Parts: sequence; C-alpha cells; structure tokens
Amino acid sequence: MASALTESEAVRVRAAGKINLALRSGPRRPDGYHSLATVFQAVSIYDELEARWSHAGDFRVSVTGEQSAQVPTGPGNLAVKAARLLAREAGTAELGCELAIRKAIPVTGGMAGGSADAAAALLACSVLWDLDVSPDELGVLGARLGADVPFCLTGGTALGTDRGDQLAPVLSRGTYHWVLALNAEELSTPEVFGRFDALARPATGPLEVPAELLNALIGGDPVALGRCLVNDLEAAAFSLRPHLERVRTTGLELGAIGAVVSGSGPTVAFLASDENTAIDLSGKLSAAGVCRAVKRVQGPVPGVRLLN
Ligand code: C5P
Repeated sequence: MASALTESEAVRVRAAGKINLALRSGPRRPDGYHSLATVFQAVSIYDELEARWSHAGDFRVSVTGEQSAQVPTGPGNLAVKAARLLAREAGTAELGCELAIRKAIPVTGGMAGGSADAAAALLACSVLWDLDVSPDELGVLGARLGADVPFCLTGGTALGTDRGDQLAPVLSRGTYHWVLALNAEELSTPEVFGRFDALARPATGPLEVPAELLNALIGGDPVALGRCLVNDLEAAAFSLRPHLERVRTTGLELGAIGAVVSGSGPTVAFLASDENTAIDLSGKLSAAGVCRAVKRVQGPVPGVRLLN
C-alpha cells in the first residue's frame, strides 16, 4: 500500500495520563461494566510511543522506562491490540508495525496508562499507514479497546458518562498544580469495582457530578475545586490497600488543598494552591516516605499529540 513514510522512518507520539476529579458510579450492569459520571483531567505525565513499519501481519511492541517490566509485551498489550484493530478496520492484510513505548505513566496506577498507549498507537499507526481515518472514528475504535481510550485521545477536561467513554467537553479555566503519590502496590480495576459492589449501595437513579466542581473549573478556582473532589471508588481502594488512607492523610496534613484517589487507584492526587506550594508539598511528601515516588504535574493538557 502507498505510504508517505519509508520503512526506516518512525512516527512518534506522546499521550498524557489522567486523573478523575469526580467519579460517581452506579451499580454493576448486566454487561459487567458500571455506569459512570466522571470528570477527567489530562495531566502532564506522558508515555511516548514510536511506530515503524513491519512486514504484513507482524505486530510487535517493546517497552522501556518506569515499571516497564510490569507491562505485557505479547498480544495482550493494549497498544498492540489497538494497532491490530486499526489494521483490521483498514481492510488490508499488508499492514504491520513495530511499536516502542517509553513509560512514565504509572502501570496499573489508575491514571489510564494502558489506555494512553492504546490511544497513542491508534494515532501513530493511522499516520504511519497513511489511513484516511477521522478523530471521531479513532474515538469509536478506542472505545472498543477500553473505556478510558476515547478520553486519552482528546485530553483536556471532559465529562465521561455511560462506561466513561461518552465524552462531553467541560469548560475549565487556568492550570491546576498536582502532586501525585505513586504507590508500590498495584490495584486491578476489576478488583476495585468488585470491592465497590460488595461495599457500596449505589443509587440506581441518574448519576451526577457535583455542580460546585463544574463551577470551580469554570471559575479557575483551585481552593473550591479542592473541596469537592470526589471518587466513589475510594472506599473500595482503601479497603483493599489500607495504607492509601495514610498517604491521603499525610498529603492533606502537609498542605494539599484537596486529595483524591485517581480512578481505581492506587495513585493519590493532591491539589496544591499554586506551583510554589506544589514544589513545597512534593518535597515534604517525598521526605515523609509514605509512597514509592512523588511526581509534580499540571493539568489540563492535550491528549495524544504527534511529535514529528
Ligand atoms: O474498559 P476497560 O477495559 O479499561 O475496563 C477494565 C475493567 O474495569 C472492566 O472489565 C470492568 O471490570 C471495570 N470497569 C467497570 N465499569 C466501567 C469501566 C471499567 O466496571 N465504567
């Protein structure tokens, strides 16, 4: 097939991680998923992905960077699944690719690291293979790979409903400064939802994110935002990993104006009132020794972007 790129040329993209500023969940549905109302914010922690041509039907991935040993490199890798799905949809058997991922987003950390890699592979391969595919079409394919993939494609700030994959833009002013506590313990998303089912008695009515939170974002007011961060999965994550509650308390005692477990955890996101306070908080949180690593990020940032 005709391509704008030679075999030795690579397409490079980067994809941001996310935190959930609000996550309201209903009960488990017959399809195994939970209906959500969630506000995503993409933050400045990035995985990078390079895609090169390979021979027809050959789909491979290598992974370097933080926690790379924990990422599967077989057919179960979400970026490989994304490349295969895109090739299948393109309807030609001539496509293949070699993917190289450099990880920075925590692995099974509740920050959509795997989904970001899938989003990165969709964009990179569509450019590599010179496919005529629109951003909306990539979003539809993304939703088949995982509920967070559509958001990872778009980034910014968005309201996610249904499985979290139906997106609507959310108006947000200003930049928010976060300190992430990355934890050594992994948490599997299905396990956290399973504990949520056992612990919670969620209402079956319509799910809503707090109006105060949406107003805080419109007003660009970090103090107001810090007060209304909410995650219905937090109690389940604390019940599975009790140490996380101590991490949360420590960050708040050290000056965070809000704290929330990101998605299904175990990453805990602390909001700071400004950049200097975030620098101060990250130093103190590191010194407290309650988590594996501390990372300072800002949001919102865009989703997947081409680097070349
Ligand atoms: O869509 P994704 O593959 O990322 O979801 C992983 C798992 O998380 C699902 O299999 C399901 O157990 C759980 N999940 C859920 N409800 C959602 C999103 C994810 O129960 N809205």
